[in-house]
Amino acid sequence: MSRTQLGTVLIGGGTGFIGTALANSLKRHGYEVVVVSRKPGLYTLSWSDLNKNGLPESTTAVISLAGQNVLDPLRRWTEGFKQNVWASRVNTTRYLAEAIERAKVKPKVFVSASGVGYYPTGQEEVFMEDSPGGDFDFLARLCTDWEAAATLPDNTDVRTVKIRTGVVLGRPGGMIQQLFFPFFMGVGGPVGSGNQPMPWIHLHDIVGLFTHAIEQENVTGIVNGVAPQIITNGEFAKAFGQALWRPSFVPLPTFAVNLMFGEERAKIMTEGQKVWPQKALDTGYTYKYPDITSAAKEFSKLIYADDAMY
Ligand SMILES: NC(=O)c1ccc[n+]([C@@H]2O[C@H](COP(=O)([O-])OP(=O)(O)OC[C@H]3O[C@@H](n4cnc5c(N)ncnc54)[C@H](OP(=O)(O)O)[C@@H]3O)[C@@H](O)[C@H]2O)c1
Repeated sequence: MSRTQLGTVLIGGGTGFIGTALANSLKRHGYEVVVVSRKPGLYTLSWSDLNKNGLPESTTAVISLAGQNVLDPLRRWTEGFKQNVWASRVNTTRYLAEAIERAKVKPKVFVSASGVGYYPTGQEEVFMEDSPGGDFDFLARLCTDWEAAATLPDNTDVRTVKIRTGVVLGRPGGMIQQLFFPFFMGVGGPVGSGNQPMPWIHLHDIVGLFTHAIEQENVTGIVNGVAPQIITNGEFAKAFGQALWRPSFVPLPTFAVNLMFGEERAKIMTEGQKVWPQKALDTGYTYKYPDITSAAKEFSKLIYADDAMY
């Protein structure tokens, strides 16, 4: 199919870790990509351009991936920062939804990120897309508000998908970029006991899942954006160390993580949820990295060319 037939995908937050990989992959598949960003650039709209002029012509899909980095170690977990974390997701998603509502020619699909923080942490229960949650702490309520912002009126006739994303593992950014050096030096290890679950997905597969959501009409509503393998933080550390041929026994004490990040957000690392990607599997998504061993081998390569990934 030609580029014009596939149409334009508009990505809010398309300059970020996931957004850049998704934009590159979509372009390679023949889509036109326009990014909504706070910074000017080629093929870039500002948020005020979007509010003023609406969606670009022939927009076939709208993606919401903007958000202030929650785990920025340089930012203290203050009420002001929490407000920033909230607004950078909920308001940007709402702006995209409003642009869709106003558009005379609607896109086919609206896909928004959300988080596995929607579900309670713990070792017992495994959460599917229809499991309850979303109302017990700041991050859970954030996911509820984020998903509400991505909800279009019933008569809009645009398929809507919300991807509750686990920790995205990929060399160009996120957690792996922060942990690569200590693990490479052989001083990496689990957080605390390492027994807490760690819902995860490889960068390639989160890109694949967003693309699956854009292209497959049977994908609607909530989708758990995690790998089909439930692991603990300790199992992640072990796989990462083994892929680098390094020991990974040095634990990062829970109190140090709490001190550095504040207990409420440190929970992302010190606690975790068991999440299962039922809908991704039911709708026919095939994972490239379904297990942490194959994923760790990919993001631990010493000479890394992420261009080859997609
Ligand atoms: N990475 C993960 O492990 C993970 C896991 C679960 C959920 N998610 C969610 O998925 C989305 C994308 O994740 P990511 O890792 O790609 O994020 P990222 O790289 O940290 O940031 C994505 C983009 O958000 C925009 N942004 C940052 N702060 C903003 C602010 N205050 N106001 C408006 N826009 C702002 C930036 O775009 P501009 O600078 O161009 O404006 C940035 O490039 C986020 O909402 C994140 O919460 C990510």
